[in-house]
Amino acid sequence: MAARAAAGAWVLVLSLWGAAAVVGSQNVTARIGEPLVLNCKGAPKKPPQQLEWKLNTGRTEAWKVLSPEGAPWDSVARVLPNGSLLLPAVGIQDEGTFRCRATNRHGKESKSSYRVRVYQIPGKPEIVDPASELTAGVPNKVGTCVSEGGYPAGTLSWHLDGKPLTPDGKGVAVKEQTRRHPETGLFTLQSELVVTPARGGAAHPTFSCSFSPGLPRRKAVHAAPIHPSVWEPVSLENVQLLVEPEGGTVAPGGTVTLTCEAPAQPAPEIHWMKDGMPLPLPPSPVLLLPEVGPQDQGSYSCVATIPSHGSQESPAVTVSIAETDEGQSTGSTGGSGLGTLALALGTLAALGIAALLVGVIAWQRRRRQGKERKAPESQEEEEERAELNQSEEPETAERGTGGP
Ligand SMILES: *[C@@H]1O[C@H](CO)[C@@H](O)[C@H](O)[C@H]1NC(C)=O
Ligand SMILES: *[C@@H]1O[C@H](CO)[C@@H](O)[C@H](O)[C@H]1NC(C)=O
Repeated sequence: MAARAAAGAWVLVLSLWGAAAVVGSQNVTARIGEPLVLNCKGAPKKPPQQLEWKLNTGRTEAWKVLSPEGAPWDSVARVLPNGSLLLPAVGIQDEGTFRCRATNRHGKESKSSYRVRVYQIPGKPEIVDPASELTAGVPNKVGTCVSEGGYPAGTLSWHLDGKPLTPDGKGVAVKEQTRRHPETGLFTLQSELVVTPARGGAAHPTFSCSFSPGLPRRKAVHAAPIHPSVWEPVSLENVQLLVEPEGGTVAPGGTVTLTCEAPAQPAPEIHWMKDGMPLPLPPSPVLLLPEVGPQDQGSYSCVATIPSHGSQESPAVTVSIAETDEGQSTGSTGGSGLGTLALALGTLAALGIAALLVGVIAWQRRRRQGKERKAPESQEEEEERAELNQSEEPETAERGTGGP
């Protein structure tokens, strides 16, 4: 009973000591594999000493106590003659809390407390699989930044022309991976950068990657930057043909301007087509039709060509001459067959007049024959022939409209 109570009191004292010491805790960082010396404040420089080291690290279960008289803790730690604690080669498992309580020659007690953290500087980060060329407007893999052998993990970050690149779910995406070496416990970080360069942006951006250690007050390490070139892609999807005057209908002798719009880089070569046939003209984005005559009427389109990327034809536009002749006020809104229609109507009118004349002549002849009292059979025959002429000839004219 008494023993257990004493033990409980000792635990309580320890806890209180711990709580008090945390206030004055000093942060210590030590590089992995190097020795670390922690001084015990207030301890006499030489034995005899009244001091005790307590440590709670990755290697200990709860607290481990070390004293000058006691044996060293394997090769992990030992108390030096001047009371300091030496760790010959710190490792990741030595991270934790170290405390010393000492009493000096005059019986005054001092406490020291350390929070030890270890670090390892990784190799210089490197951008592997760097892209030499990026395409504007589409996502491109720029490269993968790799940092190997660091501790703690730290972070990798990307910069574009000196400005931080933050993943935004749109133009910038970063895929990160953290691996830990099974034996050394050191970290390997990977950060794959995917960007969608804006069209018309910088042609030679600079991408850089840096490693920021997970410990404060440690400098970032930079990878050698890369300078991919940005290539503006060719898009010939949207070739448009604009016509002036609007609608493509012009008065005889007027001017029609056809403009081909093909927004692409490099600028495509523009050729022209009329009624499906290429026009033998030098390439130009503008086709001017001055003094428009019947021969200029038709269906026009432009063809944008970028060598090595193919061609794209615009939708067709119809050029026609507005009707000015009152005799042909048919209300037609123009089209490729307008001229033909006018021609057909003229023919029709002419044929009508001819038929009328034939009819008149036949009637006059019949009247004369009637007066001469000729046979009625021949009369009917003549009449029939006249009617045939009348009904046959306009049909021929109508068929003609669909012809040319
Ligand atoms: C020690 O490190 C801890 C955690 O990183 C921090 O909160 C504390 O402020 C540091 N103390 C000193 C004295 O720098
Ligand atoms: C104790 O000795 C070690 C090694 O000789 C030295 O690094 C350390 O500074 C000494 N501590 C004090 C408090 O003098």
